[in-house]
Amino acid sequence: MAMNSTLSVIGCGYLGATHAACMSSLGFSVIGVDTDPKKVAMLSRGELPFYEPGLEALLAQEIATGRLTFTSDFSTVADADVHFVCVGTPQSKDGLAADLTYVKSAVSAIAPFLKEGALVVGKSTVPVGTAQSLREQLMQLAPAADLAWNPEFLREGFAIEDTLTPNRLVVGVVNDRAEQILKDVYAPILALGTPWIRADLATAELVKVAANSFLATKISFINAMAEVCEAAGGDITVLAKAIGYDPRIGSRFLQAGIGFGGGCLPKDIRAFMARAEELGAQQAVEFLREIDAINLRARQRVIDVVRTDLSEDLTAYKIAVLGATFKPDSDDVRDSPALDIAMQLHAAGANVVVHDPKGIEPARKRFPDLNFAHSVTDCVKDADLILHLTEWKEYRALDPLVIGNLVKNKMIIDGRNALDRELWRDAGWKFHALGRTN
Ligand code: UGA
Repeated sequence: MAMNSTLSVIGCGYLGATHAACMSSLGFSVIGVDTDPKKVAMLSRGELPFYEPGLEALLAQEIATGRLTFTSDFSTVADADVHFVCVGTPQSKDGLAADLTYVKSAVSAIAPFLKEGALVVGKSTVPVGTAQSLREQLMQLAPAADLAWNPEFLREGFAIEDTLTPNRLVVGVVNDRAEQILKDVYAPILALGTPWIRADLATAELVKVAANSFLATKISFINAMAEVCEAAGGDITVLAKAIGYDPRIGSRFLQAGIGFGGGCLPKDIRAFMARAEELGAQQAVEFLREIDAINLRARQRVIDVVRTDLSEDLTAYKIAVLGATFKPDSDDVRDSPALDIAMQLHAAGANVVVHDPKGIEPARKRFPDLNFAHSVTDCVKDADLILHLTEWKEYRALDPLVIGNLVKNKMIIDGRNALDRELWRDAGWKFHALGRTN
């Protein structure tokens, strides 16, 4: 496929906007389509509706080349040879399963405009079996087109890097032609030596949920060990470091704390359980229920420590919460453990004030009743307790001596095991962390 070929990207959220800008940077003409005209207007001006390091600059740069455009008009995809479906698959309102409404409607919306030989490539995370049924749907609507699946593994905060230099490319295809088209699209990335994995449609879909389930399991494993450390008088940070030196285990994703959140891991493991049950394979993924439970328990454990440190009745206390997003370098507050804890303490009557470098507005939208502070100083002023819940770099740079002069009570709980405990203790703070008893 020549570099002047045209691609379309359907759905311009996190995944789609990143993919569109990155594909444009590889030299393709890219049409981004989204049903939300506000999002389209913003993206067309080179503005991102969310925060992702480096992406706004790349977006503006690519728009300026004239290769990258955004629209709400599906008929414009008629020019494209390859169509990437990047719409969301949120958890359904009435259960654990993924809501496939957007994927299905994306395929039917583009179908009338597909040219002969066009390839529709799903990137959204879907329950296994979805690609096959979408392919059948497409065969009815546009028999001259084909469908492949190409799961995405990008992490928020590293979206550009993960798209342009991924650690592998996985394609689910039913014929050589579809594989070749995708090899041509990704030629510059393959040239870097990126591993290429051809799979059938079902395996490609499963790779994605298996990867996220494994990552969730790693996090919940270390959080379970943190619970045992608390019960037995150990230190989870030392334990994690020690087991991580074994290359079979590896040290990454062994950061104990308040657990995983975001728009992917929690909903993906739940959707996996729901789908496995439909397939009669529920026993195989039954452990994910425990992974979910350990994860949610970590939030509760922080609240228990707060009650032990302050009092059962929290109404007289000001609690400063540092961090609202589900992880640093993102403004995403979906299923954020930090925000969940803040909300629960607020509901228990505490005077909770939340700071976050990027997530205040999205957090306020979700929980308008919470109090927010735009500076750490305002947040911690006269606080009885500080909760460090999202490990932004700027929180690690805080000077405990300076902060100590602002608070009422020098007491902090590190929910991410990311602060320098000795530094804070030396400055006279009572310092608690999950999974560290001494
Ligand atoms: C995750 C996967 O890492 C990506 O590979 C995948 O593409 C993406 O989901 C997706 O399905 O789209 P992301 O949601 O951006 O990416 O976040 P992660 O970096 O995986 O972190 C998830 C959560 O786990 C965060 O709340 C983080 O704070 C928490 N975490 C991570 C820990 O509690 N401990 C750790 O050691 C690592």
